[in-house]
Amino acid sequence: MMQTRRHFMASSAAATALLGFLPRQAMATVSFETLEAMSASVQLAPDGYPATDIWGYGGTAPGPILRVAQGGRLQRRFVNSLPQASSIHWHGIRIDNAMDGVPGLTQAAVEPGDGFDYDFTLPDAGTYWYHSHNRSTEQVARGLHGALIVEEGTPPDVDREEVFVLDDWLIDPETGQIPDDFESPHARSHAGRMGNLILTSGIFDKTMTVQRNERLRLRLINAANARIFVLGLIGLEGWTMALDGMPLPAPEPLDEVLVLGPGQRADLIVDVTAEEGGTAYLARANEARGAPQVTFQVRGQASLARRGVPDALPPNPGHVIDLSGDSVNLTLNMEGGAMGGLREAMFNGEQVGFRELAQANQFWAFNGMVGMPDSPMATLDRGQIVRLTISNDTAFPHAMHLHGMHFREVLTDNTLGPMRDTLLMDSSERREIAFAADNPGDWLLHCHMLSHAASGMMTWVRVT
Ligand code: C2O
Ligand code: CU
Repeated sequence: MMQTRRHFMASSAAATALLGFLPRQAMATVSFETLEAMSASVQLAPDGYPATDIWGYGGTAPGPILRVAQGGRLQRRFVNSLPQASSIHWHGIRIDNAMDGVPGLTQAAVEPGDGFDYDFTLPDAGTYWYHSHNRSTEQVARGLHGALIVEEGTPPDVDREEVFVLDDWLIDPETGQIPDDFESPHARSHAGRMGNLILTSGIFDKTMTVQRNERLRLRLINAANARIFVLGLIGLEGWTMALDGMPLPAPEPLDEVLVLGPGQRADLIVDVTAEEGGTAYLARANEARGAPQVTFQVRGQASLARRGVPDALPPNPGHVIDLSGDSVNLTLNMEGGAMGGLREAMFNGEQVGFRELAQANQFWAFNGMVGMPDSPMATLDRGQIVRLTISNDTAFPHAMHLHGMHFREVLTDNTLGPMRDTLLMDSSERREIAFAADNPGDWLLHCHMLSHAASGMMTWVRVT
């Protein structure tokens, strides 16, 4: 089941020089701690391969883990030392709209050499992340993302906590560089831009030492442009405690696989059950023979026996979705892509055929509209309950992300699923979600397969 060190060469890509980098510019004196987006050279590929030029917050990829206490405030001066305009989106945070980081909707893109003060409170504990929201197919792929952890007042009783940012990088094995093919029509019209080097928090073959019966909290974040991670435990046993930051009402035994679409997160509590001297894995199960995502070498014993089932994490305050009263019913039909049969759609105010769309490197439509519309798909009164039926009439899965508010899936028996901010939908599925429109502002709704968002799958709602 081992992935070989050469494995990632399987799909090699054309070597392309990176863009020239602008000189760093002097910044005005600021009071907030800075979070600087900058270029850097890091060793992503295994030893023996060249280093890779990345764009990272603080010059690392992923960026620094930001930790804030629940109810606390995050204040950072974003400094853009990249050769492109950028912005930061705080994914999954019930945030003040002006801080949501969406150029053209909630702020202007931050030009090279400029800065922007992000300053907001964090009402919900959980595992979140931050990433560029400008030209994100390129900027997130170059490394502009990091973990944002909001800590509970009373943390669960575990021996240690690990944050694992799961990502796949597309790297030319000859040069170590990221090919400049971010607008590839094939990636846009198919499953999205896939990498050939799968890393955990920037490390290939991440390995750590643990003790038998040690209890770990694992915070998993899928930061990939398009890859769906299907994960299983070997020599570890545990529970899913939270999804997309939000605690489950009760720990759910993780007996089978955990599926994380792009943008999604999970908090696990796992016990090391492998024998001393043995090896345990967080493993990817969706590859031919499986492959280790993280390897745990079991050395020594933390205690003689496993502990009992952990208590649920404390619920976050004030997320109420009551379906018994009035609701606004909306539908979102997703169409397009390769093998999708989309004939025509509205693009830039005109009805155009699929061939012209493809020539414009656009492939996907929401309710017959390609790309970000000038007006919202719905204007909602604050507090309204919204039921949104999403139909995936395409040949590909999509990871639908709503900014600013979590939702629950309305299951077939009319019960509600867990709170989420990103819904992974398979081809041909029709699913319904419900949310309380309780956060005023303009909120994006888009596919988190970033090539799809860039080629049509983007809309927004307004909460007044
Ligand atoms: Cu994590 Cu609009 O994105
Ligand atoms: Cu998609």
